Amino acid sequence: MRKIAFLYSYSPIIAIFVVKIQRKQTMALIDKINDLLGRIENFNATSAAEIEDFRVKILGRKGELNDILEEFKTVPSEEKRVLGQQINAIKTKANERVAALKEALDSAPVAAASSGDLSRPAMTENLGSRHPISLVRNEICDIFSRLGYTIADGPEIEDDWHVFSALNFAPEHPARDMQDTFFIEKHPDVLLRTHTSSIQVRTMEHQKPPIRVICPGRVFRNEAISARAHCIFHQIEGLYIDEKVSFADMKQSLLYFAKEFFGEQTQIRMRPSYFPFTEPSAEVDVSCNLCGGKGCNVCKGTGWLEILGCGMVDPNVLEASGIDSTKYSGFAFGMGVERIAMLKFGVKDLRLYFENDLRFLGQFDSVL
Ligand code: PHE
Repeated sequence: MRKIAFLYSYSPIIAIFVVKIQRKQTMALIDKINDLLGRIENFNATSAAEIEDFRVKILGRKGELNDILEEFKTVPSEEKRVLGQQINAIKTKANERVAALKEALDSAPVAAASSGDLSRPAMTENLGSRHPISLVRNEICDIFSRLGYTIADGPEIEDDWHVFSALNFAPEHPARDMQDTFFIEKHPDVLLRTHTSSIQVRTMEHQKPPIRVICPGRVFRNEAISARAHCIFHQIEGLYIDEKVSFADMKQSLLYFAKEFFGEQTQIRMRPSYFPFTEPSAEVDVSCNLCGGKGCNVCKGTGWLEILGCGMVDPNVLEASGIDSTKYSGFAFGMGVERIAMLKFGVKDLRLYFENDLRFLGQFDSVL
């Protein structure tokens, strides 16, 4: 430009000539700007790749906008202000158009997929996992179904007869206490079942022996929530009634279950216990699968872990449900699913099963 200014001072003719050339260049640049503006406004794309090509072609380092900026340098200073604004406007428009098209494409994934855009990132599916309590419940039910048990069901809201009276609970038995049982206000006969043994009563009422059922379900007890107890938990009840069913049959069935569930090396032991609805009654322990019976902090040094209660169905219970106790005998057992799951997975706090933290819940599918 210095050279041109120098020439101006010598020859007004050259000066007019130079101005004319510059004018022509400016007009060409304005045309270019308008043309580009039109193309930006009309640009449409159906794929991310098309949008990216467009962005590079216009805004990229070697793009059209850069060419325009190069030419802009030669524009006379008095025209620079207006043209500069226009060029800036183009840049903004192009960026806006790219963003708008990208957004439209993202919010129409189906349309994009059907147009066959292979450059789009794959849509990830979040796969859920089965709840550890369901996994353990299913596994226990599977094991007993291999022994010929079928699944029986019953209501969570029960009456006194099915939860207590038919199961030989004396009228003043502490389990009926308000501390333990959730009663429905104003209806002392209606309550939330405290154990799944109510399902064994319902089964015996409707089915004649031989009976072989496994009854999974939710139970409710008015207990303070802690690492080892909850007011809602899951139990699985088993009931087997036929002619000449013996304690030895029960022991063998429970040993089979323990080996299937905890591993072939597992042993069981039985300790005398008391339940109103079974006589004799026992608690079953399995050899600790963590220390192999040597004693560790999970089994509190004993080498054994308590897993269930069981016993021979009391004749009173059979009779209460209309089954001839002189002809039939049977056994029942019941276990807490949370407890079994804690032992299986080494979980120390039962509350984790109820918190719905996906990081916790997602760990078990592959284990069972
Ligand atoms: N119902 C008993 C409980 O809740 C468990 C049990 C079931 C015991 C069947 C013996 C027989 O603790």
